[in-house]
Amino acid sequence: MYENSVRLAACVVLLCFVLPTAVYTTDGRLVRHVEDLSQEFNSLKIEYLNMLRKIEKLDVTLATQDEALQDTWFKMGRLEEKVDRQTSELQETKATIKEQKARIDYLEEVENTRRLMHYGNGGGFTRSKPMRLHRPEKRTNVMREVVKKQNTGNVAFSATRTSPLLGDSSEAQNITFDLAFVNEGDDFDLDTGIFTCEVEGTYYFSFTMRSYDAKHIGVILMKGNEGVVSMATDADDRSVMQTQSVMLTLSVGDLIYLRLTPSEDFAIYGNSFNYITFNSFLVFA
Ligand SMILES: *[C@@H]1O[C@H](CO)[C@@H](O)[C@H](O)[C@H]1NC(C)=O
Repeated sequence: MYENSVRLAACVVLLCFVLPTAVYTTDGRLVRHVEDLSQEFNSLKIEYLNMLRKIEKLDVTLATQDEALQDTWFKMGRLEEKVDRQTSELQETKATIKEQKARIDYLEEVENTRRLMHYGNGGGFTRSKPMRLHRPEKRTNVMREVVKKQNTGNVAFSATRTSPLLGDSSEAQNITFDLAFVNEGDDFDLDTGIFTCEVEGTYYFSFTMRSYDAKHIGVILMKGNEGVVSMATDADDRSVMQTQSVMLTLSVGDLIYLRLTPSEDFAIYGNSFNYITFNSFLVFA
């Protein structure tokens, strides 16, 4: 482009200044020279116009390629979005599968426990088949829903403790349990000895204790931080057994558990013959 402009300028100079001079000369060679220059000027002009056309074409090609590039970028963006969407869908599916697996595990656990309970009822009580209930590690919301549905009108537990518990003057101990004959609804926690109400209603509770030689029995059935009913015996060498019972109307979230009097003079006795029991069932919701 630049080169052509220079040539064009040179021709203009020639035509405007050199040509008039040549015209006034009578020399025929000069006249021919001017004609040659004029021809060169015309061919340069054509070349220049051709180049202009080529540049225009190149411009069009460039614009088309630009468009194609933008289109590709756009498509890439859409593909990235699609990949992102599918990745998050995959994660959701994985989470759902995990939750459902936990739910299946839990239901299997419940089913196994039911089968064990059935075995226990049919064949009478056998020491060789302890009916230990394993609580599931953690309840998901879905599992809670399932449990709640199962719970409606169907809550009962019956647990036993197979070892003694000696009073401790430094703290009031909660009586914990290690075997569940029944734990319908799974609202009783053996490890803490706490029943957590998940279905509002009126419940029947009973507990039975055997005395420890030369110690008093002192057990209180607690609702939250408050004692509800108590059991007491005097210390004696002769072992005694006592049962206490009560009915309570509970709200969701109420905690019921048994507390041993915090003193070294108190204790309860238990062994594998299952003297110590704690039982409850929903009378009506
Ligand atoms: C007994 O259970 C109650 C209710 O959950 C709790 O507040 C208390 O700390 C427990 N006592 C002991 C000694 O763990």
